[in-house]
Amino acid sequence: MNSKIRFGVIGCSSIAMKSAIPAIIDGKNSTLKMIGSRSITKARKFAKKFSCSEFGNYEDVLKNDNVDAVYISLPMNLHEKWAIKAAKSGKHVLCEKSAVLSHNSAKKVIAECKKNNVRIMENFIFKFHPQHKKILELIAKNTIGDIHTISAKYGFNFSHITKNFRFNKKLGGGSLNDVGCYLISACIFIFKDIPVSVCCNLDIDKKSKIDIRGNILLTFPNNKTGLLSFGYDNYFQSTYEIWGTKGIIKSERAFNVTKNMKTVINLFQNDKIKKITIPPANQFQLAIEHFCTTIQKNVITDNFEKDILDQALIMDVIRKASARNSFMKIKS
Ligand SMILES: NC(=O)c1ccc[n+]([C@@H]2O[C@H](COP(=O)([O-])OP(=O)(O)OC[C@H]3O[C@@H](n4cnc5c(N)ncnc54)[C@H](OP(=O)(O)O)[C@@H]3O)[C@@H](O)[C@H]2O)c1
Repeated sequence: MNSKIRFGVIGCSSIAMKSAIPAIIDGKNSTLKMIGSRSITKARKFAKKFSCSEFGNYEDVLKNDNVDAVYISLPMNLHEKWAIKAAKSGKHVLCEKSAVLSHNSAKKVIAECKKNNVRIMENFIFKFHPQHKKILELIAKNTIGDIHTISAKYGFNFSHITKNFRFNKKLGGGSLNDVGCYLISACIFIFKDIPVSVCCNLDIDKKSKIDIRGNILLTFPNNKTGLLSFGYDNYFQSTYEIWGTKGIIKSERAFNVTKNMKTVINLFQNDKIKKITIPPANQFQLAIEHFCTTIQKNVITDNFEKDILDQALIMDVIRKASARNSFMKIKS
């Protein structure tokens, strides 16, 4: 194994340009090997910008023997196809969220990765930001007592944007797949457990048929609760609040944190608020470094694959609960 994981990029997306490729280049154990795009002109442009000598289409990236792993950032409906093709080509897969659109799809993708002995991680980078490590430490020290409720919000006002895959149902658009998914992942990450039931209301836009907004109530074992709100027609929010028997912890900026941004954790106890400032961190780079270390050291304790299966199953039940307008149990 090379000292660095050599990445091929599948899709010249905005997020690849802005965050992922710079993080691959700056990562201590990753390097950029090849750029892939549907358009050779675009691939060439990206390759030039990032001083990468090799470029081509998606298939060319998969054929390249010097590529160890791919970074996939496509409209969500294409993730399954390209993750499976990558696995068949023996490439590890770092796939953007949402990695799949159903639990069945998750099972197919994971089976192919296991068959070909490659790892796959869904790129929920927030989990690698030091602010959440600090929050988990505060919880473990019993700072706010027993935790029972997480309220989380993630949403943007996208009313000015219409031409984007996020507004195209066939391409996997919609706010659950795009932003609601973070809130589910955050609850699992903090409660360290899987929900047992769900109530949900997805507000479907009449024209595009995508879910423009959603509210979810997740019930976890021991009656722990997640209250989640998200959408595309909101005043911007990216927060979560954990309510315990002795206090509250709130992350003011939980999910989309740029590398130069300080984050603030508010700790509410005894009618006082303590502000804990966390220095800037590049959560994209930390996620990529973690993924590469897992591959290099063959770490099996990080079960990214189970995380993808759990997340996909919960999202399936959420969609069904909303369509049936009823409370539903989650059975794994
Ligand atoms: N982890 C994070 O923080 C984060 C942040 C933002 C977005 N994301 C995720 O990253 C992915 C991409 O999001 P984005 O906002 O960066 O998207 P984007 O700029 O619209 O890029 C999507 C790319 O997909 C490729 N593509 C292939 N078929 C396409 C089609 N039919 N229509 C449109 N594009 C097509 C295109 O690349 P080529 O033309 O080069 O083939 C396009 O540039 C999504 O899964 C999103 O959820 C993650």
